[in-house]
Amino acid sequence: MMNFQGSHILSVSQLDREAIARILDISANMAPYAARQKRCTVLEGAILSNLFFEPSTRTRVSFGSAFNLLGGYVRETVGQENSSLSKGESLFDTAQVISGYSDVIAMRHPQMHSVEKFAKGSTVPVINGGDGANEHPTQALLDLFTIQSEMMHFHKGLDNLDIVLMGDLKHGRTVHSLSKLLSLYNNVKVTMVSPTALQMPDSVVSALEDSGHQVIITDTMAGNLSCDVIYQTRIQQERFASKDEADLYRGHFSLNKSIYQQYCRENTVIMHPLPRDSRPEANELDSDLNDLDSLAIFRQAQNGILVRMALFALTLGVEDQLTQYEKEVNWHTNKR
Ligand code: NCD
Repeated sequence: MMNFQGSHILSVSQLDREAIARILDISANMAPYAARQKRCTVLEGAILSNLFFEPSTRTRVSFGSAFNLLGGYVRETVGQENSSLSKGESLFDTAQVISGYSDVIAMRHPQMHSVEKFAKGSTVPVINGGDGANEHPTQALLDLFTIQSEMMHFHKGLDNLDIVLMGDLKHGRTVHSLSKLLSLYNNVKVTMVSPTALQMPDSVVSALEDSGHQVIITDTMAGNLSCDVIYQTRIQQERFASKDEADLYRGHFSLNKSIYQQYCRENTVIMHPLPRDSRPEANELDSDLNDLDSLAIFRQAQNGILVRMALFALTLGVEDQLTQYEKEVNWHTNKR
């Protein structure tokens, strides 16, 4: 059994099915706090340092909110240009200093493996919030939580899943991490729809194939979208040499209601790590999908709070004390 307390969460490769099941169970227990039905102050006095050296909205805010929802305090720094990394400080030195100020650190950085490097200098747990095109383990866990909860309506689980991953599979760290996690389940079929130049890295494909799963690699949507879940992604412009190069691939696989109705199953669940690029030349998920119950993208983002709360509780070793620190809610937000 994996011991989470004091551990860094850097890659999904650290996790087995048992560890994932534990994270997803604890995530589900966080629902009443996230919905403000109860408060939990188990992390009162603890400090999260949220270091985001690359653009982010959801990941950064949800890490911070998740920590706040457990009673902790959040310190934040945003952008390399505003940090001493721009003065030539090494990740190791920054880690030594910031870990002295904190109980746990969440970090996003544009370079692959940078968070791992940083963690070597940290005296407290470090959680990877995305390191370049490499990995995004907390997103993959919230994606898995979402797939599990959406599939429950159809009496299905994570085994025997038929999923389509679509878009920029080369640079998309979320699909790298998610594919690795899916390889741990049984009899998964993964259809990878992308421009040829943006195909999934071989190592990720082999991880699935070596575990006996069926992988289909294609550059066409038509005929390939009849599945349980479509996971759409954004062209990761920031990983290309230029905007012009990224433009070559934008808008190839725009999903809208008419394509959905023509090619998907009646209840195919639509996911996307967000942000969706809604500019007309990209329009990955058309806003005409917004009224479909199958569009799970905002439930998915909401699940990020639960999963990040669970990871904080586990890495700080308080997952069994939540109910002891439960409080009434004495304000009304009329959350719907
Ligand atoms: C993703 C990321 O940053 O990798 N966003 C997120 O964290 N939800 C996906 C993306 O930016 O396209």
